[in-house]
Amino acid sequence: MEGYITATYYLETVRDLREAADALAGEQSTGTWVRVGLETEELMKKHRARVVDVKESYRGTVNKGTIKVAFPYKNFGPVVPMLLTTVAGNLFEMGDFLNVKLMDLEFPEDYTKAFKGPKFGIEGTKKAANVKGRPMIGCIVKPCVGLAPKEFASACYEVAKGGVDFIKDDELIANPEYSPIENRVPEVMEALDKADADKDETTLYAVNVTDEVDKIMENADVALEHGANCLMLNFITAGFSALRVLCEDPSIRVPVHCHRDMFAAFTRNEHHGIHTIVVSKLARLCGGDQVHAGAILGKLYEDIDSVLASVEALTEKWHHLKAALPVSSGGQHPGKIPENLRLLGEDALILAGGGIFAHPMGAAAGARAMRQALEAAMAGKSLEDHAEEHRELKLALEKWGIPKGVGGSF
Ligand code: 6PG
Repeated sequence: MEGYITATYYLETVRDLREAADALAGEQSTGTWVRVGLETEELMKKHRARVVDVKESYRGTVNKGTIKVAFPYKNFGPVVPMLLTTVAGNLFEMGDFLNVKLMDLEFPEDYTKAFKGPKFGIEGTKKAANVKGRPMIGCIVKPCVGLAPKEFASACYEVAKGGVDFIKDDELIANPEYSPIENRVPEVMEALDKADADKDETTLYAVNVTDEVDKIMENADVALEHGANCLMLNFITAGFSALRVLCEDPSIRVPVHCHRDMFAAFTRNEHHGIHTIVVSKLARLCGGDQVHAGAILGKLYEDIDSVLASVEALTEKWHHLKAALPVSSGGQHPGKIPENLRLLGEDALILAGGGIFAHPMGAAAGARAMRQALEAAMAGKSLEDHAEEHRELKLALEKWGIPKGVGGSF
């Protein structure tokens, strides 16, 4: 709908559903609990949000259903904090709503034109890592916190040599005193240069630059000065606006990895909060190149439908915005690679922390086992058969097994 952002909500209310939808539209645009007298017809026509659909699924003491509300974006412009204030602000506090969940947002092309979106996305990230025709394999350095720069870099050397395409800081480490970016990045990049020469492949390292807003660009500059080839932001805790400012800055000529920790505080409840589809769309709109989409067979709460819905939001055709690379992370190990490949295809980044670092033969072997599992899956060969020829994979399977598939397809 030209000129409008359309939001879909699940709503549970003690009021009539249509009336409640109208109250939401009013409260989030021109209205308040009472008419104030200055709401001219012209003002209402231009600025009032409109209820465009109401589907009641249950009527009783509590009425339930899905509503769609169209918000005129002249009210807030292409400004993410104000967009969120409009579609996901005070409406969560409305006293006669028992539950309300923002399920999706639809953006007309004209609105998205103000956003650059991912600079690299799937294609650019895979090109930077020199990976073709297969998913990327990556790792999160574990232990997440506490390693001094030299120890951290030597862990990176091991996993890079073992064959990961991508290494990232955990969301729990950014620029702490014991491992400042200015000391950690040169150590890691030196280690990766050596590993890359040894293995004749490229390894990306995503440096977590999350900080107070005014320090994020400073951290990014320091990381880039020391040769960083990828950056990372905890974009829910730092904010969508911080992500956009970082990604759209012309000086940032490397991909940005987006970690969504804290998102579950508002996505996890099925009936209240904000759906992960919205989180994924906004991360892509703000320029995220690789975005966490949940885990296939992982240790996290999301069901497969929700993970795949996020993947779709990151990769579907969307005006001029490049597709972002979906990241599957949390509780991954070699036995889960075939199911990741089956559901995500070749355009994914599969990350493991414990599933690499806790390998019985050490981290380099853990990384090799992940690549061996991928080789088998790509060739349509069973992991057990492939493990007969590859000791690292064999030991990983003995330790962690091969979980049953999750079903479904994408
Ligand atoms: C990350 C991870 C992190 C996750 C685990 C992963 O990218 O930083 O997704 O948020 O919760 O720390 O580690 P495991 O592979 O050991 O589960």
